[in-house]
Amino acid sequence: MTALESTREDGTGSDHHTEVNRRYWDEQAAASHGPLAHAQWAAAEPRWGLWATPESSVGVLPGDLAGMRAIELGCGTAYVSAWLARAGARPFGIDLSRRQLDTARAMQAEFGIDFPLVLGTAERLPCRDGVFDLAISEFGASLWCDPHRWIPEAARVLAPGGGLVFMRYSPLFALCVPPEGQASSALLRGQFGTGRLDWGRRVEFVLPHGRMLRLLRTHGFVVDDLIEIQAPRPAHREYGEVSAAWAHQWPSEEIWTARLAG
Ligand SMILES: C[S@@+](CC[C@H](N)C(=O)[O-])C[C@H]1O[C@@H](n2cnc3c(N)ncnc32)[C@H](O)[C@@H]1O
Repeated sequence: MTALESTREDGTGSDHHTEVNRRYWDEQAAASHGPLAHAQWAAAEPRWGLWATPESSVGVLPGDLAGMRAIELGCGTAYVSAWLARAGARPFGIDLSRRQLDTARAMQAEFGIDFPLVLGTAERLPCRDGVFDLAISEFGASLWCDPHRWIPEAARVLAPGGGLVFMRYSPLFALCVPPEGQASSALLRGQFGTGRLDWGRRVEFVLPHGRMLRLLRTHGFVVDDLIEIQAPRPAHREYGEVSAAWAHQWPSEEIWTARLAG
């Protein structure tokens, strides 16, 4: 990582991260995402994030999804949209990577579930105002987009009372993860002024809690919950950037739920 920089509060930062992340995700998609996508599309119950946290243990989705107009921001291989579609929602997926969407389309054909998939950035949605009941992102826009751009866009396209659910790395993880290797138990950088993590080949965004809360409120959201995820013991697998032992002691990821004031 070269630096931790602040994102611009007015959302007018550069588009550098978008191009870097597009290249990165086109390569990642080609390298590895097919098998993971297949397993996730086949899952009977939604399971979130690195530690496959079951929806039944966190309850972040609305109880009744039937007929809900949902947008998945940075849908990747679109398994979250597939879960929503199976529950009766009408999803719409948007992603920056053509290659990720190719995999999503292959999964649609294999599983016989169809919904619109659009190539674009979640920082500028090609959608009219107020047309969705739910906006969701699992390590999509929630990690890879500038929050000062994607949060206002989510607010714009949601109808009053619409729900926002997003999962991302925790700020603590962002402070403890080195450029190469696993998160350590030492704080490797300061928190103030953080938000943008430029790793060279990719750029991520993890706003600290106070700034994220303020940003959501500024754009009309009421926060319902912030769930810090604990890795189970034993964990189903290990990851290059965080061990299950670390994530059993500290949250490596978290889910926010909020709603647009009605
Ligand atoms: C870890 S994947 C998460 C998506 C999904 N949960 C999955 O695993 O397939 C991250 C996705 O965010 C997408 N992404 C990155 N920047 C984006 C942007 N500005 N707008 C929309 N999608 C973006 C990437 O192309 C990638 O498909």
